[in-house]
Amino acid sequence: MSYVYIKMYLNDPVLKLISKTAFENNTELYVIGGYVRDTILRRPTKDMDIVVVGSGIDFAKKLARAMGGKTSVSFYKSFGTAMLRYNGHEIEFVGARKESYRKESRKPIVESGSLDDDQKRRDFTINTLAVGLGRENYGQLLDPFNGMEDLKNRIIRTPLDPGITFSDDPLRMMRAIRFSAQLNFQIEKYTLKAIKDNRKRIEIISQERITDELNKIMQSEKPSTGFNHLDKAALLEIILPEVHAMKGVDVVEGKMHKDNFYHTIKVLDNLSKKSENIWLRWAALLHDVGKPRTKGYAESGWTFHGHDLAGAKMIPSIFRRLKLPLNEKMRYVQKIVQLHLRPISLSGEEITDSAVRRLLFDAGDLVDDLMTLCEADITSKNKETVRRHMNNFKQVRKKLQEIEEKDAVRNFQPPVTGDEIMETFGLPPGREVGIIKKAIKEAILDGVIRNDKEEARKFMMEKAKEMGIES
Ligand code: CTP
Repeated sequence: MSYVYIKMYLNDPVLKLISKTAFENNTELYVIGGYVRDTILRRPTKDMDIVVVGSGIDFAKKLARAMGGKTSVSFYKSFGTAMLRYNGHEIEFVGARKESYRKESRKPIVESGSLDDDQKRRDFTINTLAVGLGRENYGQLLDPFNGMEDLKNRIIRTPLDPGITFSDDPLRMMRAIRFSAQLNFQIEKYTLKAIKDNRKRIEIISQERITDELNKIMQSEKPSTGFNHLDKAALLEIILPEVHAMKGVDVVEGKMHKDNFYHTIKVLDNLSKKSENIWLRWAALLHDVGKPRTKGYAESGWTFHGHDLAGAKMIPSIFRRLKLPLNEKMRYVQKIVQLHLRPISLSGEEITDSAVRRLLFDAGDLVDDLMTLCEADITSKNKETVRRHMNNFKQVRKKLQEIEEKDAVRNFQPPVTGDEIMETFGLPPGREVGIIKKAIKEAILDGVIRNDKEEARKFMMEKAKEMGIES
């Protein structure tokens, strides 16, 4: 049998140290899984998984001793694993194992096994690649499932019958889709079919893990790959029914609207080219989520009146179900969804100062991100239409900057406080103070007065007089 050696990928000095300790202790071990995959793909890696034929914990203890205290080791006895931190690496040592699963759980029954058993129990061929770290087999590739071939051809495929791999551990369905998005790999036909067949099993997986994978899809270069696969495998309707509801077109009197799902994932891709901000990406995925429930047909065609507000109202329940944070991140997404039509309505022929001022006031620090989403929202195939819309938004951006420089309403602080109003007129806290305060704010936003203390005080006096209040 001839072997392939891939020593050239084993550049990390820690591997030599592991190998030396293994030789001195007569231990057989291999580096396996994600580290091998990512090193060959020349992707950055930090974590290393080492399979020890024998006890991972015992070997980690010996290695830690050999390193002379330059490391910290944690032991997870119930899993039979040890984690060693060294030079910014997390190196996990685990005994080679054999696994079998019961139907109702993704917790396997684990026994010790050979390297071969260990490779078989793994999720995808590209994750089964193992490389010898012994003196005799240093750099030798052990690849019983042709993972190297799949890595070259950019294919996600299970080493065993995909039905068994996914039924054993349904999280792997999400992992397959996530890897395809992250690495830009195809999912092999039978593997994809098995995901579809086993999709209901996703219910035994915790929401946190599912969302973790969704977030990785979201952070990939072209998230639409992941969402398309989720859709094809019919997982989308289970984990994101609100996004799935955007699918499809209706036709009335020969008029059809666009498919809002495909539009949305295009927007998400457009946006992902401009921003790494995962929350802005979530806002892109959800910006039209209110459309299905506000859809209507009028003489002029299809309408989605109020879908911005309807969508914004849906955000908390979606975030709660997905176990996404219910803090300022959620409020950020909600606000962007709610405001996503505002710059569009601004970009008509004449952009009035007061409309721009109001947008700055309402969006505050989110205004730049909002504009980035609006630009990504242009998905027309007609180059001229795209050019025209982009040009309009350029004008809006320019105007936003001009007005902000002049009026500073982006993080509006009232130039006259409630306390000052009460003091000037000897008023108790109450409705009248609120009315005066609001009138000042509105006058500034409408451009009646500037955002300036002196002008605001003068306006306050006039307003109070009009209300019959004397100072
Ligand atoms: N693995 C598996 N089934 C899972 C999770 C992991 O078979 N549900 C195996 C794979 O062989 C994987 C290895 O365990 O390569 C390590 O898992 P993990 O660290 O979660 O994944 P990586 O492949 O390293 O990739 P990433 O860090 O991007 O998740």
